[in-house]
Amino acid sequence: MTTDGAGDGMAPPMVVSGGPHPDIERVLVSSAQIQRRLRELAAEIDRDYAGRQPLLVGVLKGAFIVMADLARYVTVPLEFDFMAVSSYGSATKTSGVVRILKDLDLDIAGRDVLVVEDIVDSGLTLNYLLRNLRARGPASLEVMTLLSKPDQTRVEIPMRYHGFAVPNVFVVGYGLDYAERYRSLPYVGTLKPAVYDPS
Ligand code: IMP
Repeated sequence: MTTDGAGDGMAPPMVVSGGPHPDIERVLVSSAQIQRRLRELAAEIDRDYAGRQPLLVGVLKGAFIVMADLARYVTVPLEFDFMAVSSYGSATKTSGVVRILKDLDLDIAGRDVLVVEDIVDSGLTLNYLLRNLRARGPASLEVMTLLSKPDQTRVEIPMRYHGFAVPNVFVVGYGLDYAERYRSLPYVGTLKPAVYDPS
């Protein structure tokens, strides 16, 4: 992990001259690192799914950024669908009780399904989703997650494609939010404590 910021020439306009957003305390995974890893994972996906047409299932909202970038590095033909779920719990911790807010549009029976996630923390959300999707009879069901935290003692999630392990801290950026903000940052970082407690 580095703290080298987001400057790799690919950053969108909201990042001013390579410096991180003023609310960011530390960049944990830079934009360049993310893009490099996504290219590597896309090459693995190309090899593993050669001759097939996988269906990428993005878990909203967090996965929309990683899904869009990953998909543009993959060369096998892809189809896309999305699910939206809400986890009951506090602002920064899930309880494992998941409600489906938006279900898939497509029937996944007999399909090669690759679930794309932003982060696996306790794994409770994904554990619920995988059980739900498995019951629909896909030909295969795999997981790609950009990030994982070391806190997955409660359930074991088979992560076939994995980007980066981050420490057990709350992170934002690259799809991940705090109170719906910071999703569009092109890197993953921690917030300054004052952002949580502005008093
Ligand atoms: P889990 O059920 O504990 O694995 O939590 C999964 C979901 O919680 C993720 O898909 C995120 O939406 C959210 N989440 C977990 N950790 C973080 C974080 O550090 N920042 C932002 N969202 C997080």
